[in-house]
Amino acid sequence: MSIMNLELKKVVDDSYDIEIGRHLQDTLVEDIKKGLVGSVRRFAVITDSIVNGLYAEAICEKLREQGYLVSSFVIPEGEKSKTREVKACIEDAMLEAGFRRDCCVINVGGGVVSDLGGFLAGTFGRGVPFLNYSTTLLSAADASVGGKTAVDTPLATNLIGLFNQPKKVYIDLATWESLDQRQLSSGMAETIKHACLGDYDMFTYLEKHMEEILSGDEESCGYIAEKNCQIKYQIVMKDERESGLREVLNLGHTVGRAIETVSDYRLLHGEALAIGMAAQVRLAVHFHTMTEEEAARVIALYEKANLPTGIPSYIDREELVKKLYTDKKVRDGHLRFVLQKGIGAIDEPNPGEYARLVSEEDAREIILQMPGI
Ligand SMILES: NC(=O)c1ccc[n+]([C@@H]2O[C@H](COP(=O)([O-])OP(=O)(O)OC[C@H]3O[C@@H](n4cnc5c(N)ncnc54)[C@H](O)[C@@H]3O)[C@@H](O)[C@H]2O)c1
Repeated sequence: MSIMNLELKKVVDDSYDIEIGRHLQDTLVEDIKKGLVGSVRRFAVITDSIVNGLYAEAICEKLREQGYLVSSFVIPEGEKSKTREVKACIEDAMLEAGFRRDCCVINVGGGVVSDLGGFLAGTFGRGVPFLNYSTTLLSAADASVGGKTAVDTPLATNLIGLFNQPKKVYIDLATWESLDQRQLSSGMAETIKHACLGDYDMFTYLEKHMEEILSGDEESCGYIAEKNCQIKYQIVMKDERESGLREVLNLGHTVGRAIETVSDYRLLHGEALAIGMAAQVRLAVHFHTMTEEEAARVIALYEKANLPTGIPSYIDREELVKKLYTDKKVRDGHLRFVLQKGIGAIDEPNPGEYARLVSEEDAREIILQMPGI
C-alpha cells in the first residue's frame, strides 16, 4: 500500500477587462481578431428571443464576415428560461452542431443569458472561455460582472451554478435605449443597492438624477455604469468566492430572492430586490444600524425609481417566511441577513462577518408589517 500526493496547487489569473461604451459590437470583433480568446475560430452566441433580433444577429454577422464559424442559440426571453433543462437543450444543440472544446461562448443579453451561458461555458467540454455582451441596466449593474453563474430550480433561484469568470465584459450603454421603462426601473434596483452598501455620494447623486437616468440621459447613465462596476469589482477582487466580504452584495436579497420565487417570477428580479431592500431597511432600524429617516430615504429612492416597496396582495406572507430558509446565507438552520449601517456602509456584527443572525419571529414581524400593494 502507498499514498501518493498529486500536487495540484494552482496560481490562476482570471483578470479581465470591463469595457463600458456605446455600440461595442465592432470592438468585440476586433478583440477576438487580436486574440482575446486565443486561436478559437468557433463561437456559440447565446441570446434570448428579444435580444436576438435587436443585437445578437448583428454580432453573429460581423463575426462571420471575418471568417469565424458562428451559431446562435436563442432561448425564450425571461427568467423561466434560466433552468437546467434549457441549459441541457443548448448543450445538446451545440454538440449536434459540432461544437467541442475548441469554442468560445458569447452571451448577448441580460442577466438571464449571462447567468445561464456563463454556467454552460463552465461545464461544456469541462470548460470553454466566454464573453458577456451586456444589454440591460441590471446586468450592467451586477449580473455580467463578478463571475457568479447559475440556473434556478423549482425550489429557488440561482441554486445550481459555478464561479466562472468571463474573458471580457462589454457594457453597451446604447442598448439601454430599447429597454422598456419597467426593465430600466428593475435595473435601478441593484444600482441603488450598490449605493446603499458602499457609496453615500452615489446615493445622493441618484436622489438628484433619477429622472435623467430613467429617461436615458447619456452622462448620468455612464456615471452609474462606472460606479456600479467599481463597487462590484472592488468587492469581488477581495473575495471572489463569497467567503466573507462578498456577502455584502447580497444586501436585500434574502427577502428579494424569496419573493421572486414565491411570485412565480411575476416580479422581475429588480422589483423583487426593491421589496427585499424595503424589508432590509426595516430590519436595520429594528437592530439600530439605521435611523428611521435613513430607512425612509432608501424606500423613497426605490419609489422614485418606480419600484415596489410593499408586498403584492397575491403573495402568501407565511409562504414567504418559509421561503427565506432557501437563502444561501442560512447557517445551521438559522436565518442571516446583510443589513445596512446608515447609508453607504454595511453592518459588521462581528469582525469579518457581514450577515447578522435574525430570528424567524423578527423576520416574520417585519414581513407582516410591510404595506400591501
Ligand atoms: N450573476 C450575478 O451576479 C447576478 C446579479 C444580479 C442578478 N442576476 C440575475 O440576472 C437576472 C436578471 O437580469 P435582467 O434583468 O437583465 O434579466 P433578463 O436577461 O431576463 O432581461 C430582462 C428582459 O429584457 C429583455 N432585454 C434584454 N436586453 C434588452 C434590450 N437592450 N432592449 C430590449 N429588451 C431587452 C430580455 O429579453 C428580457 O425580456 C436574474 O436571473 C438574476 O438572478 C445575476
